[in-house]
Amino acid sequence: MKPRRHIFLLGFSGSGKSTLGRVLAAKLGYRFVDLDGIIEEYARQSVAEIFAKRGETAFRRLEKTQLKRVLGSTRTQVIALGGGAFESADIRKMARNNGVAIFLSCSQRELYRRLRNVGNRPLLEVKPRPYETPTQAKMRRIRHLFKKRLANYRVADLIVSTTGKSAAQSAGQLARLLKNMS
Ligand code: S3P
Repeated sequence: MKPRRHIFLLGFSGSGKSTLGRVLAAKLGYRFVDLDGIIEEYARQSVAEIFAKRGETAFRRLEKTQLKRVLGSTRTQVIALGGGAFESADIRKMARNNGVAIFLSCSQRELYRRLRNVGNRPLLEVKPRPYETPTQAKMRRIRHLFKKRLANYRVADLIVSTTGKSAAQSAGQLARLLKNMS
């Protein structure tokens, strides 16, 4: 049987990976790791700065190398991946071989609501077209990325909806599901 150790949380920005991940890790007594935070610490730059100064390709490389480093830990971890991490076949493979991958699905309507006033997601900052408001441009971008990524998100071992739920509710549901799986 393959070793199932770490818990990987994946899904779109705003789906609750970090908030819920922290609660779930505390509940299970595991270490919580936010991959974006690890990358920022290592690079000594924010994700937005990495995108602006070094480009997306450099960021994606860091996602892979830093995840590899995180997986070297002997502790069991709840790992919140960035929203685009599962686009990488290497990262999907790392998750498959090192634990349980959980897709936190969330309705696009709720994602718009959660992300509307957030300004630190470089991929969501798009220039509005002449007939669009900035919010409409952001929604268009979310729709586009969400559709493009859905197939890869769906290869997860588990899919849990966070729509309309608090982090505590979703973490409780996940903890129960994981218990039944073990
Ligand atoms: C990204 C999502 C972000 C972060 C980076 C790229 C993406 O993480 O990794 O801005 O490609 O969707 P969150 O999902 O935590 O917002």
